[in-house]
Amino acid sequence: MAICFQFQSPLKPITFPSSTTKRVPIFKCKASFSTTTTTELEPVFTSVKSFAPATVANLGPGFDFLGAAVDGLGDFVSLSIDPSVSPGHVTISEISGSSKLSPNPLFNCAGIAAIATMKMLNVRSFGLSLKLEKGLPLGSGLGSSAASAAAAAVAVNELFGAKLGVDHLVLAGLESEAKVSGYHADNIAPAVMGGFVLIKSYDPLELKPLIFPQNQELFFILASPEFEAPTKKMRAALPAEIGMPHHVWNCSQAGALVASVLEGDVVGLGKALSSDKIVEPKRAPLIPGMEAVKKAAIKAGAFGCTISGAGPTAVAVIDNEEEGKKIGQKMVDAFLEEGHLRSVAMVKKLDRVGARLIEGVPR
Ligand code: HSE
Repeated sequence: MAICFQFQSPLKPITFPSSTTKRVPIFKCKASFSTTTTTELEPVFTSVKSFAPATVANLGPGFDFLGAAVDGLGDFVSLSIDPSVSPGHVTISEISGSSKLSPNPLFNCAGIAAIATMKMLNVRSFGLSLKLEKGLPLGSGLGSSAASAAAAAVAVNELFGAKLGVDHLVLAGLESEAKVSGYHADNIAPAVMGGFVLIKSYDPLELKPLIFPQNQELFFILASPEFEAPTKKMRAALPAEIGMPHHVWNCSQAGALVASVLEGDVVGLGKALSSDKIVEPKRAPLIPGMEAVKKAAIKAGAFGCTISGAGPTAVAVIDNEEEGKKIGQKMVDAFLEEGHLRSVAMVKKLDRVGARLIEGVPR
C-alpha cells in the first residue's frame, strides 16, 4: 500500500498550507533557459499535491519589478504519473473553482508551466495527469495565473526529485505568464519564492529576495470588487514613454519601498506603495471607485494604498490586524458608494515560503 505523507501536521485538515513547511531555503539566484539535465530522471512520487500563494505585484512604483506573496490564499495542483497519457505529455483531467479556463494544457497557465518544467527536466518517458483547484478568482489582480503556474512547476519538479532551483521554476512560470497576461515576473517570482522579490533583471533573469524582518507585523488589506480587469487590457492602457520628472520620482519611491521592506518599516512601505505617478494614475480611472477606495483606506488609517497588480483589487498596508479589518470595511463601502461595485475585503499576512509541496505518495 502506498504511504501518503504530508508536510503539514497530519492532525490538521488541509485548508491553506502552513508557511513554515518549505524544505528549501531560498536566497539569490540567476537563471538561464538551458535544460538542466540531459539524462532522464525517474519520478520519486507517483502523485503529488502542491500549493502556490496569491501575490501582489507592482506594490505601487515597482511596476513589473517588485512583488510580494500573500498568506492563506492560492491555487492547488495535483499531479500524477498516468500511463494512459502519452509519454512526455501532460493532460488536464479536472479544473475546479473556475469554469472559464481551458483544459487544453497549451492554453492553460498550469499546463504551460508544467510542460516547460517537464522540458527543463527532460521528462520523455512518463505521461502526467494534472488537476487544478483554483482558489483565486481570474483577473482579480492577485496573481491568479501565476499561482496556477507556480503550483504546476513545483508539482512537476517535486514529482521528479526537486532537481530544479527556484530560478528555473520562475522561468517555467514566466513562459506561462508571457502567453497569458504579458512578460512580467512580479507575480510568478514571489509565487514561487514567497516573501518580497525584486526582479533585478529580465535578461538574464536575476531575482533578489527582499527579506522583511520576522519580528515586524505587516498586514495586506485586499479589497476585491466584482469587476474584471484583464492584465492585457490594463497593460495596454499604459504610456509607452514617460517624462524625466516621473522617472526620477518613481525611482526614488521604489528605492524607498525596497529600503522600507528591508528595515521592516511598514509606515515607509505604505507611503512608498501609495506614491506611483506613472501606472496607477492611468489604471485607477478604469476601475470604478478605485480613487475613492484609496482615499477611504488612507483616511481610515492605512499607511498606504494602491492597485494590486493590474487590478481591480485594491491593496492597503497596516501593522495591526484589527485595524486592517476596519480599514477593509471602509474600502468595501467606498467601492459600493463610489464605484457601485460589490466587493470583499480580506486582511492577510506575508507568505514567506512560496510554492510548496504539500502531499506526496512515494513510488
Ligand atoms: N506588473 C504587472 C502589471 C502585474 O501591472 O501589468 C500584473 O499582475
